[in-house]
Amino acid sequence: MQREGAAVVRLEDYRPTDYAIDTVDLDFRLDPTATQVTASLAVRRREPSPTQAENPPLILDGDGLKLKQVFVDGRTLSADEYEATPNRFTLHTPPHEPFTLKIVTEIDPENNTALMGLYRSSGVYTTQCEAEGFRRITYFYDRPDVLAVYTVRMEAPRAGTPVMLSNGNLIQSGPVDGSDRHYAVWHDPFPKPSYLFALVAGDLGSIHDEFVTASGRRVRLGIFCEHGKEERCRYAMDALKRSMRWDEEVFGREYDLDVFNIVAVSDFNMGAMENKGLNVFNDKYVLVDAETGTDMDYAHVEGVIAHEYFHNWTGDRITCRDWFQLCLKEGLTVFRDQEFSSDMRSRPVKRISDVIGLRQAQFPEDAGPLAHPVRPTAYREINNFYTATVYEKGAEICRMLKLVLGDEGFRAGMDLYFERHDGGAVTIEDFIECFAEATGRDLTQFSLWYHQAGTPKVTLSHTYDEKAETLSLSLAQELPRTPDNKPKEPQLIPLSFGLVGPDGQDLSWEDVDGPAALGEAGKDALGRGLILLSDKEMNLTFRGVRAEAVPSVLRGFSAPVHLEADLTDDDLFFLARQDTDAFNRWEALQSLARRAILSGYQTLASGGAASFDPRLAAAFAELAENTDFDPAFRALALALPSENEIAQLIAKDVDPDIVYETRQALAGFIGEKSAERIVEAAKREPAMPAYSPDADNAGRRALTFAAWRYQIAAGKARGQDEGTQVRRSFETATNLTERLAALRLLVHENLTGSSAALDAFFERYSDNPLVLDKWFAVQAMQPGHETLKKVEALTQNPAFSWKTPNRVYSLVRTFGAGNPTAFNRPDGAGYHFLANAIADLDKSNPSVASRLATCFRSYRLLEPGRRTHAEAALRALADRPDLSTDVADIVIRTLG
Ligand code: ARG
Ligand code: ZN
Repeated sequence: MQREGAAVVRLEDYRPTDYAIDTVDLDFRLDPTATQVTASLAVRRREPSPTQAENPPLILDGDGLKLKQVFVDGRTLSADEYEATPNRFTLHTPPHEPFTLKIVTEIDPENNTALMGLYRSSGVYTTQCEAEGFRRITYFYDRPDVLAVYTVRMEAPRAGTPVMLSNGNLIQSGPVDGSDRHYAVWHDPFPKPSYLFALVAGDLGSIHDEFVTASGRRVRLGIFCEHGKEERCRYAMDALKRSMRWDEEVFGREYDLDVFNIVAVSDFNMGAMENKGLNVFNDKYVLVDAETGTDMDYAHVEGVIAHEYFHNWTGDRITCRDWFQLCLKEGLTVFRDQEFSSDMRSRPVKRISDVIGLRQAQFPEDAGPLAHPVRPTAYREINNFYTATVYEKGAEICRMLKLVLGDEGFRAGMDLYFERHDGGAVTIEDFIECFAEATGRDLTQFSLWYHQAGTPKVTLSHTYDEKAETLSLSLAQELPRTPDNKPKEPQLIPLSFGLVGPDGQDLSWEDVDGPAALGEAGKDALGRGLILLSDKEMNLTFRGVRAEAVPSVLRGFSAPVHLEADLTDDDLFFLARQDTDAFNRWEALQSLARRAILSGYQTLASGGAASFDPRLAAAFAELAENTDFDPAFRALALALPSENEIAQLIAKDVDPDIVYETRQALAGFIGEKSAERIVEAAKREPAMPAYSPDADNAGRRALTFAAWRYQIAAGKARGQDEGTQVRRSFETATNLTERLAALRLLVHENLTGSSAALDAFFERYSDNPLVLDKWFAVQAMQPGHETLKKVEALTQNPAFSWKTPNRVYSLVRTFGAGNPTAFNRPDGAGYHFLANAIADLDKSNPSVASRLATCFRSYRLLEPGRRTHAEAALRALADRPDLSTDVADIVIRTLG
């Protein structure tokens, strides 16, 4: 948001407020452009001052507010008793005794285009208050450590606003005498910070269900959405009930109110929001059915529904002391939703997908100018810290904690955390302390994961001494320099491992020589197949290893690090075939593909022709055929590392066109050698003819699509159009997953019939915004320099709107973040397009604009020509006079 003199906020400056606000009574007279908000706040001094001394002023946050009236204990204040600017309210001399401050403001939901605070879209009033949106509704201590009990009354015409919801339980409702208006009063007995406040009012359809908690409490569940879309909420309802049960079974956490409501809205900046008892969702994470959602969408709905529900304990019942602690709730809750999805689906497949996501989103962030610790210590705009680092790396820390402490130790720490801090607003230190106390472990070094930015690099070399029957491992860790230039201490890196013997079984050992520093905990961990790398360097010698073994390290991706192991291609082929750890089988094949692409890139870049090892093509075919693995796993194993991942590895003077070419060449090579086998393998695993979104059938479809990809790549390599099968599938598909997969291939591989298919798809889904988003995204991702023109033309399509975040993300962000060859056109036109889009959008919606701005985060990796263009576009943006704090913060940090 636009605020005067965007000052830097620092963790070290934290101090509690002078006053507590124990209850908040809100009264909303809802009106599209002039909603009147009356807030009655019960205020008291936290530490009563000596009676003769004057109380310090009470200073509340605001953002663009219009004050109408203000009272203290029912008395109208005179002008010299307070000061109100749009962004701040100051009561100069508050009373000594607890008092009621009543503030009347007027706001304009209809013209709130930033979609923060109270806004109206498609005729529905909605709120989004995290992180600092509540101050756009009324003056308040808009910070997470001020917890109050809220009672919310709202009033609006019955016609047009039949549904009126807020947090907690509905305690009263009815007509407003002598008018066509009605009112509702909601009460939330749990003290909460302002960012968890929510209100929704409008004409909405709904579905309802009931959940009985472990202790027998009946909870009424509701999901609200646009009329006519109710049936598409069924899967979300099912996911909600499964989440509620799972949290009871796995974390011992029960739901605590009589109602739990979810509202799906179509204009929403983020994914979803965990407001107490009233979650508000971007409708893309609620609405799915076979015809309008893909397998992926089902998985996302399940994951996000779970995520927001799990926040009830990790976020709402226990919240953050300040916004530096954001990972306290987000990292932990992502970890919890990942565990849930792993239990609902296949654990290795979920883990691999998450690691792909981590490498795609978090590693580049950690390696670039926007790198920050999971628990940052300074920010200019908190909205810019809802990052992959806080969320995904934050989740990795929780996963590591569980690994280091063991399942029981972790659960004991969680139990203590819930018991000790319920109702509190706490810090990462409080969280970690619970685990230290519950297990007696010293977690000081482990905590560095929260404080040091950058992805650690771990190197491993190994030697086997046949005579002595010893296998020695030398491990080292290196912590990269990050923008904060802080010196780094070695971190505690948990490395799951096994010593894979010739027959593929893990070999045992008799004992281990290692640094004394390994300590009891380290020795105990070794017994569990876990090396705790705590020093900069460490040597371990395993004695009594009866045969030559290949070390399989970082199993399950036990830590978010880059691993460089001295494994030969032969070793990797061996692990890809033999490792008992499914993750590392996938990873071994990925490593081989990465090596192949990296060396191919160097060859192409210096004017040669890339050539590849035929064994790689055979290994892909073998994995495709291996029925020990479920189809979803095999589909993932067939996917090559992404262009972005490769660019990160090249790390210097990257030419995205050559990256693309090399990757295509490898796909063509594998296709030529192995497409037939892969296609046959996929045919042996067909999905059920009637669509079902379950993980097994989704995996079977994914395997089919992966096979198509190699068939087409093979055709291309031979100069033929192999698109017949894909075109037929596009026409006969009975579900969106298949139709979209076919469309994607037709468009991205530029096959005959792609534009007819695009037209048909548009026709079919012209009244379904969420599916149209995919239509835009498919086109935004078409590789090649020409795509920019198409994207520019698409911004003129009547179906496009800069006002709908989902639409902007699907076209513009997809282009900037998901299409390296097009965005990084050598002439820089892609950068200028994006920079202009950011500047325009910033005037109406700074949060969305600043998210687009992060597309530039890896520009320094590029070859000098593109780098210069990107920098020029960024500088031009930085020079614009009225940039929001949100965008300015990203642009300035990106330029460094
Ligand atoms: N807490 C929400 C979640 O579940 C996200 C809120 C995002 N807010 C923001 N200002 N970016 O993850
Ligand atoms: Zn969250």
